[in-house]
Amino acid sequence: MDIKDHIRGIPDFPKPGILFYDISTLLARPDAWQVAMGRMSREVRKFQPDLLAGVESRGFLAAAPLALKLGCGFVMLRKKGKLPGKTIKHEYSLEYGTDTIEIQEDAVQPGQRVVVIDDLLATGGTMTAGVDLLRKVGANVVGAAAIIELTFLPGRKRLAEMDVPFTALVSYDD
Ligand code: PRP
Ligand code: MG
Repeated sequence: MDIKDHIRGIPDFPKPGILFYDISTLLARPDAWQVAMGRMSREVRKFQPDLLAGVESRGFLAAAPLALKLGCGFVMLRKKGKLPGKTIKHEYSLEYGTDTIEIQEDAVQPGQRVVVIDDLLATGGTMTAGVDLLRKVGANVVGAAAIIELTFLPGRKRLAEMDVPFTALVSYDD
């Protein structure tokens, strides 16, 4: 099965000139989603994770089923102000301005092997912020994975510069 047959590209979203790769159609097809999560779990297993960290919000969609399949814990990296209790924040730069992600302070035990999961890797801004945040709480970030990689953007290179190996199920070069 070609997973790309179930991902649609929607032009000019969220702004003119951007082609948005939409996984709604993949999620709506249980057979295709099952295959996608099966393939991704085999790749992610190679990192031998203790925990998978999903990036809000679309990262949660893949991270939770993968964690169940692999028998790992699942931890949420959330946008600002959503998590109760003591949290650690990380502010990072976007094309315009900044954003903040947050984790519960006790979500990771020092040295636990963590893989960061998202639906899509583009510039790598989100994923590298996740790595920074996880390192702040003592995680050993052993890998990162996404359903989709946009290979014309520097996400993979930025992760490599942080010594984080990356794997993706499908890639698009435009
Ligand atoms: C999208 C996507 C990734 C991120 C990739 O999330 O789900 O998380 O952008 O882009 P980057 O590699 O350039 O950082 P978005 O911020 O749109 O939010 P969502 O997941 O809540 O829909
Ligand atoms: Mg996202």
